[in-house]
Amino acid sequence: MRRVLVIGIGAGNPEHLTLQAIDALNRVDAIFLMDKGAAKAKLIALREEICRRHVTRPHRLVHADSPEWTRGTADYGATIDALNRDKGALFERLITDALADGECGAFLVWGDPALYDSTIRILETIAARGTVAFAYEVIPGISSVQALTARHRIPLNRIGQSVAITTGRRLAEAWPDADTVVVMLDAHNSFQRYVDQDIDIWWGAYVGTPDEIVIAGRLREVADEIVRVRAAARHANGWIMDSYVMRRRAAASDVDED
Ligand SMILES: C[S@@+](CC[C@H](N)C(=O)[O-])C[C@H]1O[C@@H](n2cnc3c(N)ncnc32)[C@H](O)[C@@H]1O
Repeated sequence: MRRVLVIGIGAGNPEHLTLQAIDALNRVDAIFLMDKGAAKAKLIALREEICRRHVTRPHRLVHADSPEWTRGTADYGATIDALNRDKGALFERLITDALADGECGAFLVWGDPALYDSTIRILETIAARGTVAFAYEVIPGISSVQALTARHRIPLNRIGQSVAITTGRRLAEAWPDADTVVVMLDAHNSFQRYVDQDIDIWWGAYVGTPDEIVIAGRLREVADEIVRVRAAARHANGWIMDSYVMRRRAAASDVDED
C-alpha cells in the first residue's frame, strides 16, 4: 500500500514547522512540489529550504506544474471545481507513477491543510475512485490566521464571543453572524464596504516572510492606506497573500461584563 502525508508547513516562516511535521518529513520517500510559475517561485523556494534544513533521510523531490485557474469567470464555483478536477488528475498520477508500492509521499500544504485548501478533499475523491490504493494522514500546520494574530499580538476572539472565517467574496455580501471576522482570499478590498462603521482592522500581507507588511487601526482611518500599500506590494511582487481580522468596537461595559 502506498502512503501519503499531507503536511502543513506554516504560513511562510520556515520556523513555523512543527516537530510533528519534521518527523513526518523524515518518513517520506518522495516530496511533491507544485510549481506555480516564476512569479510564485518564492513559494517553492520556501518548501525547498524546509527540505534542506529538516529532511535528513534520502528522498526525491518531485516537481510538477500546478494547474492554474482562470480569474474573473462568471461562475466561480464551476471554475474551482474544474481546477480541483485537474489537480485530482495530477495528484493521482503522482501517487501512481512517482511512488512504488509501500513507499510514502508528501504534499506540503501552505499553512494548515484544513483551512481554505483542497488537498484533503482531492485525496478523498481519488481514494473513493479506487484506481490506486493508498492511505493518507494529515499533519496540522500553523495557519496564516495564527501567524496574523500573533504578529499583531491580539487574541482572535473577544471573551466568550464567536469568530467567523470567511472570504472577501462573502464579506462583500454581508457581515457574517459573528463578533470577530477573519477574511482571507480577498482580491477586492472588501473591507471598504464597512468604512462607515466603528470597526478595528488588523491587516497583514506575506506575514512571517521577509516581505511581511502589517497595518492596524480604526478601519475608517487606515482603509485607504491598506488599499494603497496592498496595490504597491502586489505590483512589486507580482502576487499577494494577505488577510485581516475585523471587529466592531464594543461599548466598554460589554467588555467589562465578560
Ligand atoms: C488558499 S488560502 C490557504 C490558507 C492556508 N491553508 C492557511 O492555513 O493559512 C490562501 C489565503 O491565505 C491567506 N494567507 C496565506 N498565507 C498568508 C500570509 N503569510 N500572510 C497573510 N495571509 C496569508 C491569504 O488570505 C491567502 O489569500
